Amino acid sequence: MIEATNSENSVTGNVPVITVDGPSGSGKGTLCQKLADRLGWALLDSGALYRLVGYVANKKGITDQAGIAEQALNLDIEFINDPATGELLSILEGQDVTRDIRTETCGDLASRVAAIPEVRAALLKRQRAFRVTPGLIADGRDMGTVVFPAAPVKIFLEATAEERAKRRYNQLKEKGFDASLAKIFDEISERDERDLKRSSSPLAIAADALVIDSSKLSIDEVFERVLKAASQFI
Ligand code: C5P
Repeated sequence: MIEATNSENSVTGNVPVITVDGPSGSGKGTLCQKLADRLGWALLDSGALYRLVGYVANKKGITDQAGIAEQALNLDIEFINDPATGELLSILEGQDVTRDIRTETCGDLASRVAAIPEVRAALLKRQRAFRVTPGLIADGRDMGTVVFPAAPVKIFLEATAEERAKRRYNQLKEKGFDASLAKIFDEISERDERDLKRSSSPLAIAADALVIDSSKLSIDEVFERVLKAASQFI
């Protein structure tokens, strides 16, 4: 028998999924939100799951890998749409922690727990549960390679580290956070390195992915390219 944790669920197997993978700041978040809004599909922000696990482990002072994996498996997590802004809110044990998990510190904590194979295994089933009709937009690093390897449409979004740092800086400033461009560039480079080199599900381009370099494209141009690539499934 094939374990549900190791394979994409056959019951939801024909629900279409568009996977969007790529490094931090490549524009995945904005693109995925736009796709989910346009198509009326569910949205999986897998980075938020890793951020929530990193946040909780840090807050509760859990440092052993088994303990962190246990949190990943059983943590009370909910994502709801803010009716006022349409933004996806992250609710942890009943508390809205959307802002707390968006900081660069939490991004760093996320990339550390994301390197633990047991944490990735614990989150696999949770991530696959997001695949519901009429379809799913899955945002992450290993959506097309590990979590939804049979997805009919796979996108890999990239951009230069300089461009990604600039975007992250502007995003943080817009949200009212204090930010330093040089520091963000260093953090992004360090995180890239960790995501690319970890042994468990490293950031990689799926063989059947469409690679889009967003460095010189507007979000609308990227969006149109993805819609075109997905046209037979939407
Ligand atoms: O996408 P976001 O910046 O929110 O992700 C935070 C961190 O979580 C990433 O730097 C990466 O280390 C990790 N991550 C991952 N696999 C995913 C999504 C995020 O390893 N599918």
